[in-house]
Amino acid sequence: MIDPRAGRGTFLTFEGIDGSGKSTQARLLADRLRADGRDVVLTREPGGSTGAEEIRRLVLEGDPDRWSAETEILLFTAARRDHMERTILPALADGKVVICDRFADSTRMYQGLSRGDLRGLVDTLHTLMIGREPDLTLLIDMDPETGLRRALGRQGSEERFEEFGPELQHRMRAGFLGLADEFANRFRVIDGNRPIETVAGDVLATTGALLT
Ligand code: ADP
Ligand code: TYD
Repeated sequence: MIDPRAGRGTFLTFEGIDGSGKSTQARLLADRLRADGRDVVLTREPGGSTGAEEIRRLVLEGDPDRWSAETEILLFTAARRDHMERTILPALADGKVVICDRFADSTRMYQGLSRGDLRGLVDTLHTLMIGREPDLTLLIDMDPETGLRRALGRQGSEERFEEFGPELQHRMRAGFLGLADEFANRFRVIDGNRPIETVAGDVLATTGALLT
């Protein structure tokens, strides 16, 4: 295992409720940084490595009740460990900018809050198996109804949390804002209820200080 603190690169994550615009903004940021000549790895969770993409299918497809809450936490953590070992840490060791669409804060929220209070278990496993936080986390804050509408407009076979409806989206939004307070040193909240280019301008300005 590569030392999680060894990386010289920069580790950025996007977080927020389903449909908030994370993937759109992660892609736009990667494009702009590449246009500036930076070496960028754009990746996502669950997934981002061959093994973790296999686990993604196990957790997002099929019967939503196929895993207990605890097993689900283990699967998301296993996927993250593989993603760290094979994709994120090697890229950081090479000095690259890693942009990840969702990371451990999503597990703190979805697995930590949605099926009872399992946040302690999520954090313990994170400390044992992952041991690294992003350098900067951009929370795309979004009105839950708008996010849900956008997310449900997509087609696909994956069972996402958006299927659970507006009540969960409201709780997740509040939970993410709570995390932004808890980890105020690395979180920045971006208002996602604006046109894509306006949000992207804010994202670029927010990352600027870290990347100079
Ligand atoms: P997420 O990754 O957070 O689920 P996406 O980036 O996939 O969100 O966006 C969900 C949908 O909303 C996509 O169809 C995208 O084009 C659209 N979208 C994203 N950001 C905005 C925005 N600021 N205004 C309007 N539509 C948006
Ligand atoms: P994602 O593809 O990012 O969905 P979206 O584009 O709708 O935001 O993530 C798929 C689902 O996986 C999403 O509903 C949130 C969930 N998820 C967890 O439950 N735990 C996690 O640790 C991660 C990374 C995602």
